[in-house]
Amino acid sequence: MCGIVGAIAKRNITPILIEGLRRLEYRGYDSAGVAVLVPGKGIQRTRAVGKVIELENALAKEPVQCHLGIAHTRWATHGKPAERNAHPHLSERLAIVHNGIIENHGPLRKRLTDLGYTFTSETDTEVVAHLLAHHYKEKPDLLCAFRSTLAELHGAYALGVIHQDEPDTLYCARMGSPLVIGEGSEERFVASDPLALLQVTDQFIYLEEGDHARLSLEGRDIWNRRNLPVEYPVLRYEHAALSLDKGEYRHYMLKEIHEQPSAIANTLEGTLAEDHVLTAVLGPDAETRLQDIQNIHIVACGTSYHAGLVARYWIEEQAGLPCQVEVASEYRYRQVAVPGNTLLITISQSGETADTLAALRHSKQQGYLASLAICNVAGSSLVREADWRLLTKAGPEIGVASTKAFTTQLTALLWFSTALAQTNNRAPEMISANVRALRTLPGLVEQALYLDGRIEQLAATFANKQHALFLGRGTHYPIAMEGALKLKEISYIHAEAYAAGELKHGPLALVDEDMPVVSIAPSDSLLEKLKSNLQEVRARGGQLINFACETAELDNGDGITHIHLPPASDSISPIVYSIPLQLLSYHVALVKGTDVDKPRNLAKSVTVE
Ligand code: M6R
Repeated sequence: MCGIVGAIAKRNITPILIEGLRRLEYRGYDSAGVAVLVPGKGIQRTRAVGKVIELENALAKEPVQCHLGIAHTRWATHGKPAERNAHPHLSERLAIVHNGIIENHGPLRKRLTDLGYTFTSETDTEVVAHLLAHHYKEKPDLLCAFRSTLAELHGAYALGVIHQDEPDTLYCARMGSPLVIGEGSEERFVASDPLALLQVTDQFIYLEEGDHARLSLEGRDIWNRRNLPVEYPVLRYEHAALSLDKGEYRHYMLKEIHEQPSAIANTLEGTLAEDHVLTAVLGPDAETRLQDIQNIHIVACGTSYHAGLVARYWIEEQAGLPCQVEVASEYRYRQVAVPGNTLLITISQSGETADTLAALRHSKQQGYLASLAICNVAGSSLVREADWRLLTKAGPEIGVASTKAFTTQLTALLWFSTALAQTNNRAPEMISANVRALRTLPGLVEQALYLDGRIEQLAATFANKQHALFLGRGTHYPIAMEGALKLKEISYIHAEAYAAGELKHGPLALVDEDMPVVSIAPSDSLLEKLKSNLQEVRARGGQLINFACETAELDNGDGITHIHLPPASDSISPIVYSIPLQLLSYHVALVKGTDVDKPRNLAKSVTVE
């Protein structure tokens, strides 16, 4: 997804802009650009298709010292990846960068063309540049012109603007796309993600929807959508101390897989007592508020949706509450029947996923009791707009493929299910068993990571496969779905997951010696049922790769590989079994030589619809 960095400082800001773009590379992009105000020369723009390094090389040809600038990584939506479509876009003496989509760009483009403006790109963004220039021409007051421009835009935007006539000012605005202001000492920055600015500050102001701001060396002015001045606290970025480099690891994904024991332990910190969970983590009156909940709706996308699917089993079985789970892109456009006293849970690593955020906003008119955001980013839009929040403490996740975000979401959801069970006076033994299991979880995940070498050997067998099936039952069915998503996402092998009992209703027709079938076979109450399903696969010559506990006593034979996991109690088993599936997709991707951390066509944080 697109990324924005902007800076105003006494020092030369070009290296800060470039480093900021580099830190946003993980989000996915196809071109990059920078516009700086060069004293005595005006705005100088440089753009390049491809990686940030191409832009850096282009800038190195003509190095300049400058103190005001904006930069951007573009992920194509309107107009193909090409230099002419890359940001910043210029109009007369101004430059802008934009994340999001301007929905009324068509009529605006027509009007501006009729007014004599010439378009050099196919983007919706260039419309904003010309519109701002037009308003400025009508009334040469940049703040007024900026406000008139914002008032005409429909859709989503985060914007950064510089103008030659105001060499000491950086303007920005947000509506539907995230934007933060970074506070330095007599210098200020703006970015779509605080990660871009951790090189220069750990102090941030999170703009709210509809806000616009003017930044200078001396200070900042922020106004809301009604143009009224607003003040926000400056917040310290919590994960700033965490290393953002790959360290000893070859890829961020591998590093993040290996960080899971500590990420899970951090997520649980301060949430567990001896034999019960500490519901006060949810706020001072949590106990009373939890008592009112009679139904749960969960809404999320991608991997976070899979975490919700696992949670449905826990919430219905452990807390005895009806629970339904839906992808946000569907939920946001339908009229939901909401029974009384229903809690809406949104789950998101980034807290900025456009569909999930829109689903939360849509829910506000649907009569929910309250909303809870389970999220990894404390200052994100989702967290700020939800009634309650439960933060996962995975730390920054850079690899596009979600790993530690997923297992910490599951950890938080199991904790929340236990909290609901506790409030509803469900069996105390079950609650204390969950608490014990959660305590053992970081250690078991650590043990599962020892399988790395064994899985690396196995990966070669996938090298020339076109398809794979993943099977699971119960809570491990969504884990199979997540395993299939991981394999698709980073190795580009087509993979599908089925509830193993569904195999005979159609997908069995696909099974032959070219079809690897991955089964998740923990020793639970459904194991015997699963064994019958696996026999159906072997009878058709399918290659079986079983992730199972040593005690599972699965059939041996040609074409069957077993990978043994440590015994784990039923509640935490889906979290433990996620680990070898992450490692499998990672090693298959290595064999296939794909770009593990930045798979093709994908973005880390999907901030457009
Ligand atoms: O930040 P979110 O958790 O809201 O992101 C949702 C999905 O885009 C995300 O989980 C995606 O499916 C991952 N790349 C999968 O690994």
